Amino acid sequence: MIILSKCSPIRQILRRCHRQAVENSSKQANLTAYLGKWPEKEQQEFRQHMRIITDFISETEEQQLHEEIEPYISRLRYEFDHWDDAIHGFRETERKKWFPQNREILERVRQVAFDGAIMPYVHILDLAPDGVIKPHVDSTRYCGNTISGISLLSDSVMRLVRTDAQRYQQKSSGTAAAEPESESKGSEPDAAYRHQPKASLENNFYADLLLPRRSLYIMSHTARYNFTHEILAKEQSEFQGTPVPKTRRISIICRNEP
Ligand code: OGA
Ligand code: MN
Repeated sequence: MIILSKCSPIRQILRRCHRQAVENSSKQANLTAYLGKWPEKEQQEFRQHMRIITDFISETEEQQLHEEIEPYISRLRYEFDHWDDAIHGFRETERKKWFPQNREILERVRQVAFDGAIMPYVHILDLAPDGVIKPHVDSTRYCGNTISGISLLSDSVMRLVRTDAQRYQQKSSGTAAAEPESESKGSEPDAAYRHQPKASLENNFYADLLLPRRSLYIMSHTARYNFTHEILAKEQSEFQGTPVPKTRRISIICRNEP
């Protein structure tokens, strides 16, 4: 077990991220670790299509969002039953009508992350401290080329692993996209929304992203279609060798239409 020293570099990054003053661009480079052998062109594209904006919301705004969500989400039970599901130890809901101050935050998300409109129902995912989002690709049938997420309450590590483009064909436009039937699990809703193609770390390339609490990530195009995404379980939650403690995490996810 690695002891997380008070002045470890990752701690310092996180601490700096939690301060408003620092320029975003100077911090962003430190939040992505490229692992495996990346073809130059793929990495260039990935840089454009997977972005993290730290301190996207203030502490007050985080609290405002949490206060609106908590009464609804706390009535639901965390799902730990289905081991096959893409997400384990979570509860989720959707919300269309938001308090004005939170609507304003979502409008900011739309402006920064999307070309046009976002889907009217915003997805709220509450991941228990023991919860995990396993590697998956959001279905092209239900979700367009961009997915954004605000992280509340906890830092976490998101991993994006290159899928085998030959085996797992995703088209960049949702209409008539060839869904990989062999990967889907039939009628369960989770299976329809989230496909779990096999993507191994061996002989492959992938990226670990440090998602600080209150950051916004924007995952689009290549990053959205050609990579699985996952949130590492608390036992695996480390970034470049330094543990990143993950507690309960709520994400507010906006998507556009296919
Ligand atoms: C999902 C997902 C990521 C997140 O719900 O499909 O990948 O940030 N969520 O919670
Ligand atoms: Mn997803």
